[in-house]
Amino acid sequence: MESGEIRGSRKKSRRLCCIVAVLAVVLLLIIAIALGVSLSRRGNEFKNTFMQRCEKFEGYNCTEIWDAFQKAYVDRDQCDVPPEAYDSLIEAAPLETSCNRMMFWSKTKDVAQDLAAKGDCFLTVERTLLGSVLDGLTWCGKRGSDETLTTGCPEWNECVKNPVRSFWNRVSAAFGDAACGDVTAMLNASIPTPFDPKSIFASIEVKRFKSSKVKKLDIVLVTEMNSVTNCTNKSLQDLQNMLDKGIIYSCLEVQKSQIQKCSSDPNKSCGSCW
Ligand code: APR
Repeated sequence: MESGEIRGSRKKSRRLCCIVAVLAVVLLLIIAIALGVSLSRRGNEFKNTFMQRCEKFEGYNCTEIWDAFQKAYVDRDQCDVPPEAYDSLIEAAPLETSCNRMMFWSKTKDVAQDLAAKGDCFLTVERTLLGSVLDGLTWCGKRGSDETLTTGCPEWNECVKNPVRSFWNRVSAAFGDAACGDVTAMLNASIPTPFDPKSIFASIEVKRFKSSKVKKLDIVLVTEMNSVTNCTNKSLQDLQNMLDKGIIYSCLEVQKSQIQKCSSDPNKSCGSCW
């Protein structure tokens, strides 16, 4: 009798175990599916943002541009995407040129972008098709997959050849190559080295200015109450020495508040900000 009861309760507990195991498997499956769906939604969200931003520019084939973009990083190691991987993207959407309006910047993103957003005074790389489509976004791929990921991608300094950093290096090189006429660059007087050799502006863009195309480089050194330097800064001397001979150099210290006023005043013309 007793042993019958024991057998019965053993059977019951085995059944219970089976039910718990099945439930656990079902739960794991649900979690995995939900995770997969949410990741692919994020990938779609990224593509939607890309396409929506791209379609604001007339006369381009955004599907072709998306395909060229993806080829650079999809199915590749996240730290092995060199700037050249974006060559076909640049070919698919060559950078717009606009002599005398091109604006470069370093450590002055907000003030430069705000001014560039005002009418047609200045063109920053972030206002060209490729720059505007990818500004503020993060993306990467992974080996063995055709997905675009937007989370878990390497940080800017985590590895040199990461998809985002290589893109900005490549597109900045193209923007530097396109420079022509009078070129403006906004640098920051609130840091000890406004022309930082490690910056994209110093290490990639300036080196591409050619005197056959670029007549003059106007440095606008943005000053504030807490500024630590001015146009006599040693790094600006280095900049002049690095410039292709024949390009005229000028440096002007301008208060940040003055530029901001100009950005927000629709009656101020391009030429009267400084
Ligand atoms: N993490 C993420 N992004 C970074 C980081 C970082 N640690 N460092 C730089 N970046 C990216 C950001 O998009 C940032 O806004 O580079 C941009 C510029 O960095 P800065 O150091 O301020 O300036 P610089 O390196 O000179 O690059 C600006 O390159 O994008 C072109 O034409 C543009 O002239 C401009 C220049």
